[in-house]
Amino acid sequence: MFKKTSTKWILAIASAMLLSGGVFAQNKPNVVILATGGTIAGAGADVTNSASYQSAKVPVDKLIIGLPELAKVANVRGEQVFQVGSESLRNDNLLTLGKRISALVKQDDVDGIVITHGTDTTEETAYFLNLVIKTEKPIVVVASMRPGTAMSADGPLNLYSAITVAGSKDARGKGTFVVLNDEIHSGRDVSKMINVRPNAFASPWGALGMVVEGKNYWFRKLDKRHTTNSEFDIDKIDTLPLVEIAYAGGNVNDTAYRAFANAGAKAIIHAGPGNGSVAATLVPVLQELRGKGLQIIRSSHVNAGGFVLRNGEQPDDKYDWIVAHDLNPQKARILATVALTATNDSKELQRIFMEY
Ligand code: DGL
Repeated sequence: MFKKTSTKWILAIASAMLLSGGVFAQNKPNVVILATGGTIAGAGADVTNSASYQSAKVPVDKLIIGLPELAKVANVRGEQVFQVGSESLRNDNLLTLGKRISALVKQDDVDGIVITHGTDTTEETAYFLNLVIKTEKPIVVVASMRPGTAMSADGPLNLYSAITVAGSKDARGKGTFVVLNDEIHSGRDVSKMINVRPNAFASPWGALGMVVEGKNYWFRKLDKRHTTNSEFDIDKIDTLPLVEIAYAGGNVNDTAYRAFANAGAKAIIHAGPGNGSVAATLVPVLQELRGKGLQIIRSSHVNAGGFVLRNGEQPDDKYDWIVAHDLNPQKARILATVALTATNDSKELQRIFMEY
């Protein structure tokens, strides 16, 4: 598992041995932590502040030093890629992160990657990486619901679990993961369902497995295309097109749709109620925008997992619209953004939405 010893690893291992007194074992996996910010790097004023704190404050080296147990399960080193709340991450950040991961996984002395991240858009970053990184090595996005300064902070155990999954041979070739609260979720399926509890994340079709005391327990695999079986490659993507989400409920108007089109969006995710339903008053403007070359993608904003069927309540064939299948609006935005780097053909895009 541990092939070449580059200087970076020698320094990381030496510091880990100093700090943890851990015995350096040649056969421990080498895991790189790429830190982006979020609550897992957050700090509150008092141990009672589990929900009011400042996100993206603690640097990656302090996260590692603060958890000497990591050195018992892997040789760990960190890189600070960003230090932001994940709600502020943009397409350019996804490209930078993805290209760094792609470069690292090509190295023989890297066995797995952990990305520390804010929970708000964990589900977007994890899905993006699932689509574009050509590797079987485990890539794990980890976050926390409470800052490390709070009582019953969840970050340390989430990070420990993430490192053990990222260093595990049995995690190879299964796509990207999100690890929190002892659960191993697919980066494709998982979504943040609650915003104030440690059990915030869920997957409509269930977690892939559990990780308990550093041991993985697998229950299922992702059936959709990902990583080495994906037609998309971050190394061949230099820009990402603008895709916007229009949230629709009752009394919806066409203002946002027209504004997104005027701003240069190449596709609009219609985040509709129920089956991605489209109000009668919206149909004409969606037809007009489609006629101008924008892709219209129907998704559902229902809470526990939508399932938008083609030609269900809307004549998608007639209007040449696309359905997002079981992807929620924010996931649909990620897939449309990546897919539009390869094609603008609506039938090809629909194929992609059914396969990924
Ligand atoms: N600002 C939010 C973010 O970075 C904090 C939420 C969290 O990380 O749990 O996603």
